[in-house]
Amino acid sequence: MSPTRRELLEAGWKVGSGLLVAAAGWTTFEALKPLADVSGGGVLPLLPPDAYPEGSATFVREGRFFVTRAKDELFAISQKCPHLGCAVPFCEASGRFECPCHGSVYNAAGEWISGPAPRGMDRYPVQIVDGRVTVNTMVLEQGAPLGSRLYDTPARGGSCAPADEA
Ligand code: FES
Repeated sequence: MSPTRRELLEAGWKVGSGLLVAAAGWTTFEALKPLADVSGGGVLPLLPPDAYPEGSATFVREGRFFVTRAKDELFAISQKCPHLGCAVPFCEASGRFECPCHGSVYNAAGEWISGPAPRGMDRYPVQIVDGRVTVNTMVLEQGAPLGSRLYDTPARGGSCAPADEA
């Protein structure tokens, strides 16, 4: 006996739903999986310093780091969380890096503010070469120790992390 139209539609919905769940799972895994070490890439010439104003965080995909400016100093901050290696996004609302995996928070210079991370976010050396910000991704410098607040400023707004359930 061949399947009815209703049975075919039900089977189609099940397959479609399964694919959606698989796609959502894969997207979540890609977003949260620990990053591989990206040091050893090379020297990346970027834009002139004025392209990186105070409070901004510009992601550089080739090296998987952010260029930020804090207290008029430029930083190239590795996206890899020093806790367990998750990719850390910059929260525009708070002006801070907020790790989605276990909640570590860092200021715009990558200094540790809160959470389980053992230090601040790691950085690459920044130089100005021929008027352009230039980042050496062959040298990964360990983040500032806990308690370092040389570049700290208050959060400029609310956190991007979901509010805790009360
Ligand atoms: S990996 Fe970022 S806080 Fe754990």
